[in-house]
Amino acid sequence: MQTRPSQPIESSDLEHFLQVPGPTFVPERILAAMHRQMLDHRGPEFQTLTREVLDGLPEIFRSTDPVILFPSSGTGGWEAALVNTLSPGDAVLFLVAGHFSMLWSRMAAEFGLDVRVLESNWHRGADAAELEVYLRSDADRKIKAVCVVHNETSTGAMTQIGDIRAAIDATGHPALLLVDAVSSIGAMDYRHQEWNVDVTISGSQKGLMLPPGLSFNVVSEKALEAAKSAKLPKSYWAWRSMLAHNADGYFPFTPPISLIYGLAESMIMLNEWGLENVFARHKRHAEAVRRCIAYWDLGIWCKVPRDYSPVVTAVVMPSGHDADAFRKLARERFNISLGMGQQKLAGKAFRFGHLGYTNDNLILAGLEAVESALEHARIPHRPGGVDVAYLFLNRRR
Ligand SMILES: Cc1ncc(COP(=O)(O)O)c(C=O)c1O
Repeated sequence: MQTRPSQPIESSDLEHFLQVPGPTFVPERILAAMHRQMLDHRGPEFQTLTREVLDGLPEIFRSTDPVILFPSSGTGGWEAALVNTLSPGDAVLFLVAGHFSMLWSRMAAEFGLDVRVLESNWHRGADAAELEVYLRSDADRKIKAVCVVHNETSTGAMTQIGDIRAAIDATGHPALLLVDAVSSIGAMDYRHQEWNVDVTISGSQKGLMLPPGLSFNVVSEKALEAAKSAKLPKSYWAWRSMLAHNADGYFPFTPPISLIYGLAESMIMLNEWGLENVFARHKRHAEAVRRCIAYWDLGIWCKVPRDYSPVVTAVVMPSGHDADAFRKLARERFNISLGMGQQKLAGKAFRFGHLGYTNDNLILAGLEAVESALEHARIPHRPGGVDVAYLFLNRRR
């Protein structure tokens, strides 16, 4: 008879702790909503569903601009934003402050765009003052678009998009503003309309609490105008055919029906909770996590409190201790997945996601698992950080 490996029960039999910053847990309500038989995506029932979803989505983005859905991960949303607004050789300015903004800029270079980079310190969000200086120096108005990531999931630092908008406006520069809000939507305050963003890009597997597989482009009138003359090749990603079909409640191709059922449920849940309450919950959990880390006497990668991300915190390991070895131990011994350090953070930091479908119990249990792993891995720290988080969340122990 085969015997089971001698693992402790918490490593094998209980629910896994998915503490990465996306994909996040999917609520049972959304799983149930997706568990549906297929239907004719050219029929009236699906048409009604599409219309409901497309009508309700702008509110989630704080916008009245149309929202375009693609069956792709967030990366596809980046591509759609670029190919629909730009032409080969166009100058594009990327505000690089982490792994994702860097990846997006590389994609733009692969499309033959003239990529300019303003790289700021990865320990904070992108710098609006530097942007203003740069745009003032662009006397011929060569820059066609400014691209920036709102919440750098790789560093746990957010960029103040309101400040970025103000910097562009102060110069009177006509560049489009393209914003990656992949890990922002449904989790933190994001205002497409108020910040006058031309294209907002997002994905399904983070604040929207869905499986990966849907990306979003929210497109301003100015972006639609730019799309009329944009010459980068596109077919599947073309906004024009998508918008034409969407106007009738359909898609130009077979849509991801199950995910759209799930999206409809996610929107109902977010509206029931109220977006403001959802944002407040994320901020409160982020604060609890940061207080715990501070008590442990470990560092937080983001150095500017105003830029602290409400959805993810990157924790710096004490020197001489490898973050990946720590994550491996945490997963194997304590059944918790932590986000890896990417690029400049590789081996130096791990990321604790506190976004999407979570609650006080899950956050506290996740922190408890990390503290146990710190102890087990003999990482120098002050024990008791979880108590501080408990107190902050108004619990008694
Ligand atoms: C801010 C940000 N942008 C873009 C991406 C890429 O999205 P995807 O992995 O869904 O293609 C991610 C993924 O984590 C992200 O966090």
